[in-house]
Amino acid sequence: MTAALPYANGPLHLGHLAGAYLPADIYVRYQRARKRDVLFICGSDEHGVPITVTAEKEQTTPQAVVDRYHALNKTAFDKFGMSFDSYSRTSLPMHYKTAQEFFTEFHRRGILREKQEKQLYCERDRMFLADRYVEGTCPNCGYTQARGDQCENCGTWLNQVDLIDPKCKVCGQSPVVRTTSHWYFPLGDFQPRLQEYIKERSDRDGWKENVLRYCESWFKDGLQDRAVTRDLTWGVPVPVPGYESKVLYVWFDAVLGYVSSTKEWASRAGDPERWRDYWQNKTTKYVAFIGKDNVVFHCIVFPAMLMAWNDGGKEQYVLPENVPANEFLNFEGQKFSKSRGWGIDLQDFLRFFPADTLRYTLAINLPESRDSDFYLKDFQARTNNELADILGNFVNRTLAFTEKSFDGTVPAARHLGKLDKEMLSQLKEFPDRISQHYERYRFRDGVIETMNLARAANKYFNDSEPWKTLKSNREQCGTTLNICLQVIRSLAILFEPVVPGLGQRIWSALNLPGSPSEAGWDGAGETALTAGLTIKKPEILVTKIEDQQIEHMVHSLSSGPSGEAPANAPAKPVITIDDFKKLDLRVARVVGAEKVPKSDKLLKIQVEIGSERRQVVAGIAQHYNPDELVGKDIVVLTNLQPARLMGQESQGMLLAATDSSGKLAVLTVARDLESGSAIS
Ligand code: 2FM
Ligand code: ZN
Repeated sequence: MTAALPYANGPLHLGHLAGAYLPADIYVRYQRARKRDVLFICGSDEHGVPITVTAEKEQTTPQAVVDRYHALNKTAFDKFGMSFDSYSRTSLPMHYKTAQEFFTEFHRRGILREKQEKQLYCERDRMFLADRYVEGTCPNCGYTQARGDQCENCGTWLNQVDLIDPKCKVCGQSPVVRTTSHWYFPLGDFQPRLQEYIKERSDRDGWKENVLRYCESWFKDGLQDRAVTRDLTWGVPVPVPGYESKVLYVWFDAVLGYVSSTKEWASRAGDPERWRDYWQNKTTKYVAFIGKDNVVFHCIVFPAMLMAWNDGGKEQYVLPENVPANEFLNFEGQKFSKSRGWGIDLQDFLRFFPADTLRYTLAINLPESRDSDFYLKDFQARTNNELADILGNFVNRTLAFTEKSFDGTVPAARHLGKLDKEMLSQLKEFPDRISQHYERYRFRDGVIETMNLARAANKYFNDSEPWKTLKSNREQCGTTLNICLQVIRSLAILFEPVVPGLGQRIWSALNLPGSPSEAGWDGAGETALTAGLTIKKPEILVTKIEDQQIEHMVHSLSSGPSGEAPANAPAKPVITIDDFKKLDLRVARVVGAEKVPKSDKLLKIQVEIGSERRQVVAGIAQHYNPDELVGKDIVVLTNLQPARLMGQESQGMLLAATDSSGKLAVLTVARDLESGSAIS
């Protein structure tokens, strides 16, 4: 399995998760529980013009940009519970080698065609303006911010020289037209074979309607040759003489990132050739999870590249068996937008709420056949009314009852009544019912079905009235509890793909060894818990979400320069001691503090730093009473450029820390020192 390699050009948001990553992870975890040999591959896509543009904006290097976001996104994915076997990156030597090998092979076999073409060139920046380096008016619809490769408004693929009134994105100047040459991949030649391939695979494995529709519209327009080189400096160098100053088109290298990431995995595992067991093995079933904007590259471009390679006859790669692409997820009724600041980044969300609650709500709302929405109210309701009240409650009441009335040991099941038999026969059917949805990439339905088992179990508990039979027929009461505990064991296995943390905790509460997925899906319908086993004391499985917690998150995330740094933020890149020495940190004594009028967040603090007095404004009013601070020796960054916050000048920044619950503490000094003392 692969999941689209996200660009290391910004933080992941909830939309990304709903598009490709969560469905992929559910599928992979489910397949592992079926004991199939699964390899789950991903990594950062570290090339492409937007990364260079970010670097220019931040006056840093593209490598620094991708280093930062690779680390950030990898950490966020980990916290979210993604179970990748390999999360690699496309700026590694192994990847360069792989991408260049494909290009060289195609070039050597005469598959690629060289074409002279007219391109826009900026004389001031002395560069060709590839793809998003140029903007202008769309000749098709008149949209004024159409990019060099595509108009975002009408979706037309553009030839950049057709843009009206083009402007260089770096300097804003009008470019000139110059001739350059590029290598083209003859996608058009592959059209008949691609159509046949998609038909065959979709008959066999049931491709999604939306994916087939996108493919058909590409075929209808007729596939064209595609340039696979670019006049850029950031990317994989083109391995052909005369092309030293050019790089491969980002999509040519990105899709091969799946292969190179697998090679990285094999090398790390000490068996460098093992990647072939997956990529070059006829019995492999390769499933590529993506979002809808990537369909053409995974259903058309990548398969065509693999066909071209396979035609060489020496090695045979497997082609995707299925490409289950999702549509888009909106946030509170609007598209996610980085520039408009709309949406919530994954790492931010996880500072406030556990991954499992997010996974569950996203899974229920996956945009599988059309765009869908994520609403915070719905997130709260799903967590409280389903995860906590149905699943959590069933587990809890069963464990508590067992603890109290059966000394915490699993009672024996003796005579089975009608209700008991019904519950057991349902239990037997559920694993298969859920499987059928997952095997067809219908994750929403699979998850809904899984919760239905917990619903049925709650009903069984109620209808069996064990609190009554405890007195009237203790043996029957034991039977009810035995069956409830069996269901809990099954729930741990069946829920694990969706909410892995919860699955494991339920498993551990039963005092079972290993993990639910090791126990295996196929036995999930069985009654495998033995009577007499001691279970653990119940703990709260799912904590309900209060209104204020949602408000707190929204408030914290929409705050500007507040002095609140993200808690448990991923590690930042290494700096030198000289970098650190640039900070002038001093011990400062607080001599006065008051609230900033009309602001519920800001405090205006007077500090003494040696013989100097300064005013520092900090976003800590919700965490401290002004009086609490007076007399404290705190830490202030004194050489930060002064800023104005709500009309107040701030001549420095106090240091504070925030933990994952949102609690904030101002840093103080552990011993009496003169104010103004330098911190180093
Ligand atoms: O759309 C994207 O985020 C791309 N970086 C996906 C690449 S998928 C694969 F080709 F690497
Ligand atoms: Zn347009």
